[in-house]
Amino acid sequence: YGDYNQKIDYVFKIVLIGDSAVGKSQLLARFSRNEFSVESKATIGVEFQTKTLIIDNKTVKAQIWDTAGQERYRAVTSAYYRGAVGAMLVYDMTKRQSFDHMTRWLEELRGHADKNIVIMLVSNKSDLSSLRAVPTEDAEEFAQRENLFFMETSALEATNVETAFLTVLTEIY
Ligand code: GTP
Ligand code: MG
Repeated sequence: YGDYNQKIDYVFKIVLIGDSAVGKSQLLARFSRNEFSVESKATIGVEFQTKTLIIDNKTVKAQIWDTAGQERYRAVTSAYYRGAVGAMLVYDMTKRQSFDHMTRWLEELRGHADKNIVIMLVSNKSDLSSLRAVPTEDAEEFAQRENLFFMETSALEATNVETAFLTVLTEIY
């Protein structure tokens, strides 16, 4: 308690990917700092945040990497994926195209990451479910076919954000 020099048992790198404006940076802000910004700016290059948690009596440091969904702002791909043991594949449930692009993001991820990487398909913005453009069943089917975990989240309302990250971290562990 209050021991900030506690030893870290594991460091797990997790990467966030998906189209621009689906909410990757806000999911990270919610998880790491419990913050949310409506005026979130598009990410340029790569950013990361860490959060230290206790899982099964072990101290786990999650190092979560966030990059631009926009091609022109993206940093070198292979460096981004290097060493990642978990990934969040994020789409916006109100934007069908962002879901349709999951195939491409998954391809890129599988082409660069370790084959044992734990992947969570994240359907973000569940607070806007009245504008839903992707039925839950479509996502579940895709997740099942591709062997991904699946969760619907809202960074705005803090729904399932912690659960999504914790599920990935626990599976890695
Ligand atoms: P890039 O950095 O360009 O790849 O985008 P991003 O995926 O990081 O998106 P970002 O987190 O910047 O969010 C884009 C917009 O969606 C911002 O206006 C956010 O406030 C909004 N947003 C993010 N998450 C949610 C959510 O759960 N619900 C709602 N209603 N809006 C959200
Ligand atoms: Mg961003």
